[in-house]
Amino acid sequence: MTQHTVLVAQISDLHIKAGGKLSYGKVDTLGALRQTITTLNNLNPRPDIVVITGDLVDFGREDEYQTLRDALQALAIPYYVMAGNHDDRQQLKAAFADHSYLQQHAERVEWQAECGPLRLLALDSSVPGQPYGELAAESLAWLEQELSQQPERPTLVMLHHPPFASGIAHMDRQPLRHPEALAQVIARYPQVERVLCGHLHRSIQLRFAGTLVCSAPGTSHQVALDLREEGPAHFCLEPAGFLLHCWTPQQGVVTHQCAIGEYPGPWPFFHADGTLID
Ligand SMILES: [Fe+2]
Repeated sequence: MTQHTVLVAQISDLHIKAGGKLSYGKVDTLGALRQTITTLNNLNPRPDIVVITGDLVDFGREDEYQTLRDALQALAIPYYVMAGNHDDRQQLKAAFADHSYLQQHAERVEWQAECGPLRLLALDSSVPGQPYGELAAESLAWLEQELSQQPERPTLVMLHHPPFASGIAHMDRQPLRHPEALAQVIARYPQVERVLCGHLHRSIQLRFAGTLVCSAPGTSHQVALDLREEGPAHFCLEPAGFLLHCWTPQQGVVTHQCAIGEYPGPWPFFHADGTLID
């Protein structure tokens, strides 16, 4: 790694509950977060920052945010939080009152931050009380203004709701409304290296407005892969993961999908003399 490399880990859809309660009666989301933190802390080199792209907790409750904050104390990397449809803006801001970047907007969880040469712009696509997402006209104007101010600066634009249809029908019924409005802004600014989102609890990529959109897997449960129109709203416990976005001046952003947890290995491909192990 060069000294100019910037490593941004993206985790998403933590859905933390209070009091050890399981999500949907099945998923130990807090245990999954603890495992995620261990995996992140053990990365070598460690990421410069972690961004959490929404659905921090399950029902937007104060005690859930307190449980989350307590768990995040073990994370040895600076982190930034964003709002998803399961979050409550007021409760989120109260729980993270010491996160000064959250004061950039009085109501929404919208902020800009810098990580070395890289810029991060977080949009709040949550709509209070609704599962779908929407960006306010003011949010799009703010995005345009921020992008126009530093057109040479490589930038990650982030929002919880994906601005595309995934093919998973029950998720596509709670989409980002009017994604074309976001696309019109993004298309004008080639410094946007990625649009990063969550919500889908799966790693999905597609071309969007001249850049690449990546949705992150969930840290605990995943949305079941079911591309039938009548597919039910089901989740599963496939291996959980996160995304690691590695920026270098030579290549821009390279994104790795990473598994959470411990697995056998690593083992060498080669003998000490350099020959391939047969
Ligand atoms: Fe979620």
